[in-house]
Parts: sequence; structure tokens; C-alpha cells
Amino acid sequence: MKIQKAADGFDTLFSEQYNQTYHSIHGVLQESQHVFLDGAGVEARLKNKIETSVLEIGFGTGFNFFLTASKAIENEASLNFTSIENNFLGYNLFSSLNHIRLPNIKILYNKFLNWRKNQPQNPQPGICKIDFTNNSKPYLIQLNLLIGNAVEVSLPAHKYDAVYLDAFSPDDNPELWTVSFLRKLFQAMKPGAMLSTYSAKGNVRRAMTEAGFEVSKRPGSLGKREMLVGKKV
Ligand SMILES: C[S@@+](CC[C@H](N)C(=O)[O-])C[C@H]1O[C@@H](n2cnc3c(N)ncnc32)[C@H](O)[C@@H]1O
Repeated sequence: MKIQKAADGFDTLFSEQYNQTYHSIHGVLQESQHVFLDGAGVEARLKNKIETSVLEIGFGTGFNFFLTASKAIENEASLNFTSIENNFLGYNLFSSLNHIRLPNIKILYNKFLNWRKNQPQNPQPGICKIDFTNNSKPYLIQLNLLIGNAVEVSLPAHKYDAVYLDAFSPDDNPELWTVSFLRKLFQAMKPGAMLSTYSAKGNVRRAMTEAGFEVSKRPGSLGKREMLVGKKV
């Protein structure tokens, strides 16, 4: 795993196993904001101080979580963020990345690093709950990390307001783009919830439709023409 700088100065990682980066090299912040926070309607909810429950597939470097938490703190809105990861990065990598440049998250990021430092290098499958709530503030920030294979993890029904599908590409990480996996995400979402993904591939769109989503194409983030969002109607 190698750290690479994207065009906006934020760090991403290159995975030798998947032969791809964790984020767009055209801009980590731009991609995360556009595809996930805007695409899944999370930005709008937080701006309106609506308590929001997010499910992410692929915690990776945590950037999507830290950006979402930054917005929740800015807007004083409660966030319950669940992320599934089967290859949880070690303390040295987390502490080398420059995600701490994001506004509002210095205390939260340091708490996360401190927590990671005290965990085993390769944690056992299971759930880790980290509460970032500051008792002097009127909102909650909670992270639930589900360590394990997303295909095998069981998810509660009708729980999430938004899903960030941030697996590696459908060609290289195919188990996270199947109809049966998308159905599992669909049943975990509340009615009206949105799933967003950077992919615009025809077979992903068809699989999302077959899983029950109302699918639409949106302009993609820098370097990509289109992306997909799916609504649970
Ligand atoms: C594109 S990266 C995610 C980037 C991340 N959201 C971020 O902000 O840094 C995809 C992630 O999915 C994880 N992953 C791949 N297959 C998985 C599986 N079957 N179960 C759980 N996680 C998986 C990879 O280890 C990797 O961390």
C-alpha cells in the first residue's frame, strides 16, 4: 500500500492487490463530497440538522467518514456512521495520511488515531463502536466499524438514511456489486433513503434496478462523466 497525493493535495492510497487508488486522483475531497455526501443526500440532511444514519461499504482510509463527520460538526447535526471493512488499515498508515486537514475534525481524528493505536494490527471480525460525542455539544457523532467481509456481515432492516457504495471497481471487486448484495443493502435502508456510487456501468445500473432501486444517472465527479444513485421508494 502506497500513499499518493491527489490533485487537491489530499492523500489517497494505491492498492497493489486491486491495482487502483482508494479515491479519484483528480481530487479526494471533490469525489467524496460530490459522489457520496451530495449524491446520497447527506449534505442536505446535515445542513437541515436532521439526524442521519449512514452505511458505507469500504471504510478504507476513512476519508468519507471524516468528511461526513466534519459536516455534522459544522452543522451541529447528529451522525451515526456504520462502515464495513475487511482489510482494516494499521495505525502507521492512518497517522501518515493528511485527512486531518479537513475542518472541525482535529479532536475527533486524534481520538480515532489513539483508539487505533490500542487495537490489534489485524482486529478480529466483529463490531467496534467509537463514540466521538462531546458532552458539551447538543449532537452525537458515532462510528460503528464492522470488521469482516461485507457479503457475510448481517445488517439490520430499515435502518439507514443513506448508503455510500465505495467498493473497488465492479471488475475487480465483483462480490460487492451483485444483485444479491445490492438487495441486502436495499433491505437495510429506510424508505426514501438513497444509495450513491461513483460507478456508472450498465451492469451496475441493471443490478441496482433488479435489486429494487429507482436508479438515476448524475454527472460524475472530476474525470468521470456519470455516476449512479438509487432511491428506495
Ligand atoms: C475504494 S476503497 C474505499 C475508500 C474509503 N471509502 C475511503 O474513504 O478511504 C474500497 C474498500 O473496500 C474494502 N473491501 C473490498 N472488498 C471488501 C469486502 N468483501 N468486504 C469488506 N470490505 C471490502 C477494501 O479493503 C477497501 O478498503
